[in-house]
Formats: sequence, structure tokens, C-alpha cells
Amino acid sequence: MTPDEKRAAIEQLEREVRSCTRCALAATRTNAVPGEGPVTAEVMFIGEAPGANEDRLGRPFVGQAGAFLDELLAAAGLRRSEVYICNVLKCRPPGNRDPLPGEIEACRDYLDRQIAIVDPLVIVTLGRYSMARFFPNQSISKIHGKARQVGTRWYVPMYHPAAALHQQSLRETIVEDFRALADVLRAARAARASRSPEPREVPASQMRLFD
Ligand code: URA
Repeated sequence: MTPDEKRAAIEQLEREVRSCTRCALAATRTNAVPGEGPVTAEVMFIGEAPGANEDRLGRPFVGQAGAFLDELLAAAGLRRSEVYICNVLKCRPPGNRDPLPGEIEACRDYLDRQIAIVDPLVIVTLGRYSMARFFPNQSISKIHGKARQVGTRWYVPMYHPAAALHQQSLRETIVEDFRALADVLRAARAARASRSPEPREVPASQMRLFD
């Protein structure tokens, strides 16, 4: 997909999400929160579900957890404006309760399409609901911060910033994990460059080596 095609596909998806009635959360939301960021982003962050601030503004991670996420992004050498951020659920569960299986299922296709459209090099999961999508039956305390490569994409499960915000020991761990994300990104970019189909010019001086 060209960037223009990606933008058109994401805009179509956003329209569908904003008018979605696939589950009961449609009745209690103020705004749906499809996600945001450049469609050409190399890194996609997937959280759990919108909270009160996100519901009010229709944007992901704009509350306290969002401010902490901005700090974490900086630790990874990233700016918010260069990453794509979305959630497993696009609507706020009342009282910020945990997502229900039926709600996750109703929203599944939206997240699948976002991944297909953005086609990120690295997916970072924030919290257990998005981790479960890619690392079923695993424990976050065992696998947090460890990148796994599947095909041409890297997946990195992280603690949820909201959990880490309130627990000092987790806070240090998640900051460390985000610092290490910079290395994952470097490795992923290098691997992508090495399989690039673009013909690399060989300087004339080196060509003699193959005579
Ligand atoms: N927590 C999430 O998981 N997502 C948001 O968008 C905000 C808080």
C-alpha cells in the first residue's frame, strides 16, 4: 500500500469505529477512540482500552498514563508524533473495568486492520490484554521487555504504564525496558535494511574483487 492508500484505509476505519455499534460499549461511550499516529509509523503501541480522558477527547493515552508514556517514548528515543498508538478496545468500559471477552472479540477486526494497514516493523504491547493477543498464556513478569521476532516483525511486551505509574519497582523496570527498546529498534532496522530489495551500488574499486 502507498502512504496515500494507507491514509485512506485508516480514515475509513476511523469512521467505522466512531459510529460502531458492535457491542454494548457504544451506548455508554462519549467518543470512540480509534487510535492515532502516522500510517507509516515503524512502531505501533497497543494499550488496553480508553479511560475517562480518552473517552472525553476521542484520543488514546491523553491522561496520566499518557503523560508517562511520553516519558517512556523519550527513553526509547522516540517522539509521540512518529509512532502509532491504539488500544485493544476502542471504547471505554464503564468505570474502567477490565474488557470483557465479547468486547475484545467485537473489536478484534479493527485492531487486525490497523496492523495490516500500518504494517509496523515493531509492535509494543502495553499491559496484559494486548500482550494476550500475541503472547497467549504467558506471564508479563517473565517476558516483559523481551523482543520476539516473528517473520519480519518484532513484538515487545511491556508492562502497562498505568500499572507502573503507581508501583515504584515496576516504574524502574518499565523505564529500563523502554531504554532497551531503542536497541530492538536498531536491530529491527538493520535486519530490514539487510533484506532490502533495493540494488546497492558497488563502488568500482570493490568490483575488482570479483574479477
Ligand atoms: N490506558 C490504555 O490502555 N489506553 C489508553 O488509551 C489510556 C489508558
